[in-house]
Parts: sequence; structure tokens; C-alpha cells
Amino acid sequence: MPAVCRKARLEDVEPLYQMIQGYAEQGIMLPRSRNVLEKQIEEFVVAEWDGMVIGCGSLCQLGNDLVEIRSLGISEGYKGKGIGSMLVDSLMTEAKRREIPKVMALTYEVSFFIKNGFSIVKKEIFPEKVWTDCIYCKKQHACDEIAVLKLLD
Ligand SMILES: CC(C)(COP(=O)(O)OP(=O)(O)OC[C@H]1O[C@@H](n2cnc3c(N)ncnc32)[C@H](O)[C@@H]1OP(=O)(O)O)[C@@H](O)C(=O)NCCC(=O)NCCS
Repeated sequence: MPAVCRKARLEDVEPLYQMIQGYAEQGIMLPRSRNVLEKQIEEFVVAEWDGMVIGCGSLCQLGNDLVEIRSLGISEGYKGKGIGSMLVDSLMTEAKRREIPKVMALTYEVSFFIKNGFSIVKKEIFPEKVWTDCIYCKKQHACDEIAVLKLLD
């Protein structure tokens, strides 16, 4: 059964919440409340397998020329099947549609992003706005995530 990637809908809030919460508890994603997910549902894409949400990702606009990929995750048991890359492709297409040339992420999954055409960059090159969410992160004073960037043509 192949995975299908589509824009998220309000009925996806609960599975999105559960997936993000699971990764947030492991310290590899920032938590998102159901309320925030409802408000930002337009920014999310999901991957479905046999009618079940098994992956997600979102875009957060940080300026006229920069978006961040956030909340990108695949359920255990569905990793390594190209579904994460499919979600990244779909988010890149959306960034292109919005004519935003730079897509960045803060991540521990550097090899995955490099395979998807991103490069490692210094965190300092990004504007203040990138760091506003960090107040919700337990590691805000000792951030060990790596910044990656892809320029769209
Ligand atoms: C990172 C993540 C989204 C990747 O999704 P995925 O569906 O497993 O990735 P894909 O199958 O599309 O992998 C694409 C390529 O990256 C490689 N890759 C994926 N995860 C990797 C990892 N942890 N280390 C090294 N390579 C990795 C795959 O081997 C594959 O390479 P190939 O094309 O040569 O076979 C998924 O592992 C995940 O949910 N991780 C936990 C949450 C997380 O850290 N998200 C990132 C937050 S920014």
C-alpha cells in the first residue's frame, strides 16, 4: 500500500497532536497544542497509509524570503520508505508556490536533510524570528540542533 501525501484537514488534528506529542516527549520536536494545530492546519501536510495518518510536516513563514520546515515526523514502522522525503518535496513545492526562495530546518536528522538537497549552515545567519519558538524548548540555553538550508531556484 503506497503512502499518499495531502494537505492536512481539521479531522487530522488529533493524529497530528498524538504524533507531535510523542516526538516532543523524546525531545526531538517542539510540542503543539490541539488549539494551535487547529489554527495552523493550513500549514500542515500529512502522509496517509491505508487511511491512517502516519506522517506530517509543516511550513512556518519567517519572512518574505524564508520558511522553516517544522513538525516533520514519520510514525515508527513507516520510516525508511521515502515518505519523509515525499513530505519534504510537498513542502518545497508549497514554498515555491509562495515564491519563497529559502527553506530552512533545525534538526538532528542531518543526513536525511542532506539527502534531500539541504546544506549545513551556521545558525547565526538566520534572523531573530527563527528563535521565537525556542522559549518553549527545554534546551533553549543549550541548543544542539543543526541548521540546514536549501535554496529554491
Ligand atoms: C527524519 C524522518 C522524517 C525521515 O523520514 P523517512 O521517511 O524515514 O525518510 P526517507 O525514507 O524519505 O529517507 C530518505 C533518505 O534519507 C535517509 N535517512 C532517513 N533517516 C535517516 C537517518 N536518521 N540517518 C541517516 N539517513 C537517513 C534514508 O536512508 C534515505 O536515503 P536513500 O534515499 O539513500 O535510501 C524520520 O526518520 C522521523 O520521523 N524522525 C523523527 C522525527 C525527526 O527527527 N524529525 C525531523 C525534525 S526537523
